[in-house]
Amino acid sequence: MGKSVTRLYSQFQPERYELALTLDKAHMTFGGTVTIRGRKVGRPSQRITLHQNGLKITSATVIKHDKKGEQELPLARINNHDSLQEVRLHASQMVYPGMYTLTVAFEGKITDSMTGIYPCYFKDGPADKTLLMTQFESHYARQAFPCIDEPEAKATFDLTLTTEAGITVLANTPVKTQQKHGDRLRTTFETTPKMSSYLLAFVAGELQSKSATTTSGVAVNVWATAAQPAQALEFPLEIAKRSIEYFEDYFGVPYPLAKVDHVACPDFSAGAMENWGLITYRERALLAYPGQTGQSSLELIATVIAHETSHQWFGDLVTMKWWNDLWLNESFANMMEYQAVDALHPEWHVWDSFIAQEGLGALRRDATPGVQSVKTEVRHPDEINTLFDPSIVYAKGGRLLYMLKNYIGEDAFRKGLSSYFQKHRCGNTEGADLWAALSAASGKDVGAFMDPWLEQSGFPVVSITQAGRELTIAQEHFLDNPAKADPDRRWPVPLFATAPGLPDSFDSSEIALSVPNDDIVLLDTHARGHYIVRYTSDKQKQAVADKIRTQKLGEADRLMLLNGGSMLARAGYEPYSNILAMLSAYRDEASEPVWDMMSLVIGETRRFIDLDESLEDMIKQLIRTLIAKQHKRLSWQEQTGESSADQKLRATIIGLGAYAEEPAIVSRALELFESYKSKPDTVPAELRGIVFAVAVKQHTPGALTYLLQLHDSTNNSELKGDICGALTATHLPEEAEKLLGRLQDAKLVKPQDADRWLVYLLRNRYACDTAWQWMTANWAWIEQTYHDDKSYDMLPRYAASIVNTAAWAKRYREFFEPKAGQLVLQRNIAMGLEEITARVAWLTRDLTGVQKFFNTLSGS
Ligand code: BES
Ligand code: ZN
Repeated sequence: MGKSVTRLYSQFQPERYELALTLDKAHMTFGGTVTIRGRKVGRPSQRITLHQNGLKITSATVIKHDKKGEQELPLARINNHDSLQEVRLHASQMVYPGMYTLTVAFEGKITDSMTGIYPCYFKDGPADKTLLMTQFESHYARQAFPCIDEPEAKATFDLTLTTEAGITVLANTPVKTQQKHGDRLRTTFETTPKMSSYLLAFVAGELQSKSATTTSGVAVNVWATAAQPAQALEFPLEIAKRSIEYFEDYFGVPYPLAKVDHVACPDFSAGAMENWGLITYRERALLAYPGQTGQSSLELIATVIAHETSHQWFGDLVTMKWWNDLWLNESFANMMEYQAVDALHPEWHVWDSFIAQEGLGALRRDATPGVQSVKTEVRHPDEINTLFDPSIVYAKGGRLLYMLKNYIGEDAFRKGLSSYFQKHRCGNTEGADLWAALSAASGKDVGAFMDPWLEQSGFPVVSITQAGRELTIAQEHFLDNPAKADPDRRWPVPLFATAPGLPDSFDSSEIALSVPNDDIVLLDTHARGHYIVRYTSDKQKQAVADKIRTQKLGEADRLMLLNGGSMLARAGYEPYSNILAMLSAYRDEASEPVWDMMSLVIGETRRFIDLDESLEDMIKQLIRTLIAKQHKRLSWQEQTGESSADQKLRATIIGLGAYAEEPAIVSRALELFESYKSKPDTVPAELRGIVFAVAVKQHTPGALTYLLQLHDSTNNSELKGDICGALTATHLPEEAEKLLGRLQDAKLVKPQDADRWLVYLLRNRYACDTAWQWMTANWAWIEQTYHDDKSYDMLPRYAASIVNTAAWAKRYREFFEPKAGQLVLQRNIAMGLEEITARVAWLTRDLTGVQKFFNTLSGS
């Protein structure tokens, strides 16, 4: 689609905003005045154009500043172009380059869109309460006030908010003055540093807080509504404070503001948002309820806080010029979140999760034809939201930076970053600016190494063939559907090999060399590269399998070998039954991240059930065999002093056992469900969701009613999430129907959570038909409610993920193909179709082999 936008920064460059907003909660409206001082640049023209979206402009003036002083330019008309999201101030004479002050008065509506200025609803005891807050990324500041709403248009902001009295009012910087006028409160804030419009923010409402101060004197506050227990703020406060301290030390650049607030918001579309000095979160991503929050949630909360805190430098202090370099924000924050949490809690071994979660997600998405590259062109604002592909701009980008850090070394990496921040503070950058800093620090040509990885989609499969001391190493573009691979695509592949004498990296299609002895050479040890390795000869494969069995390889390697194997099999490089044989060799495995990978392969194998239902019992049998040893070791009870990995592994094992209907697990889960009702503490938080789900799947009388009642009455969003996971596991279509019937009622299911319920039901074999029918019948509502939302473009992607058969493929095509014209959905629908084609081909091709594997297994 050729639709594109003119960048407004090319005609007007703001330097300073004075923004006064009055919020009227009773009428859900706001009004305001913005005064923008800035420079008109480029060719003389008869107008100055600002962004706006949905605002009513009530008046505007333009004043020119020059040697003669100030002079008002008479305006011919004010044109609101809603389709272009612009307001054009037309002068009756030529407007020449120079300094101007624009003053615009405007009015707007506060709607439930979760963008611009929007309300959050919560219940405080019996009382219904509302907060008002903002979400401006990626291009929603223009819904709140006329501005140049592009990341490059950095300016200072002086914000004044008029609200109801008796509440807390927060913005990016500390409060400067506050006065009560009757039932109104007028709050002014300190001038911000030069910053992008998408980072401006405020929150106004009834809030409680806990505070701390960093060693360098930054005030750190964590906030939640009065409906939350105060202790839920303790863990996040500790992480928030230590994250700032960590980054100040690591980047060698102080945190640039006097304070940072972290606010848990009852309605929030994304997970969290890095507004400078005022970070906002969904409650689930910030609050930790002592005793009720499991290890995996603590890790999630810590990584989200670290992610947003790292953005205070990467993104806020230094910002990408344009959205095509979004990776400068998100890929970095993705990697830095692990780096910080690893420093704060080394015992959590989060780099293993980085590989098991981000790494696997990245490789799998990146193997789908039509996938975007990390660095992607953006023409239209509607495309901006689709850029935030969690598997690409986050996971793959983060992984590429991790690869780079390993390639140039930690010291050079850190030194380069520090000089990058010093040089570009409060400025805008492109990838090349960062490469220049890292090249200077490392003495390597970082741009030449990284650009092929960032600018090309996909990754290589690196094949290694070893005969004695002779090696050949080759690369080719890997795709789930090899027919679509680009035969000419090459990357500079870092080898991270076990043998001495190999080059650091190679970028040709093939190299041949000899090694000092005939030990089998392994590539990409510790899973640091964004590629998969293929060992071609039987002897190599045997040697690798032996190393896995005897645990001679590290966790990351054991995990990646299984991953590479399964990806190669799905693309037809080898039969999938080989992977099942390989999986069986992992029965002594005790590592949690490796088990993540094993469950992934198990989940993948379960897809064959859609083609042959008789496989289900045999798959369950295999699972029972695989988990036996770990189930015995871990059982149900958390041991004092046990590792965080074991706490999480217990949930994985019991979850698999529950699916496989291991009798001991099912009966224990049902007992715990009963005891939960009177004594919630008897169920470890990490296992709570599984216990609930077993009760639902086993049709425990009253379970559905009990869980719905608990869901609707609790303010604990983590508990709500567990209940959602459990109820959507139902085997009864009529229960699925009942759950779906609740999604359009925001009082029962918050719009921020509705997509979860739908997606989980779609993924449930017993409910997917019901859920699909509901989704297609209610698409108009979905589109209307979510079209501006960050999660809307994910729906065709989730829907594609459940398709295993030709019949479902047809269903998908018929429904989604006609929607592919929508810019927001275009890429995910196209990729959905590709993904389905590859998957149906794989499942059809391997079905007989897999049947044979299981029949032999159960016969033996
Ligand atoms: N900047 C994003 C949030 C965002 C993205 C807002 C796109 C609006 C549009 C934020 O830094 C982020 O990445 N949030 C993640 C959570 C993170 C810890 C992975 C999210 O919201 O999923
Ligand atoms: Zn981010």
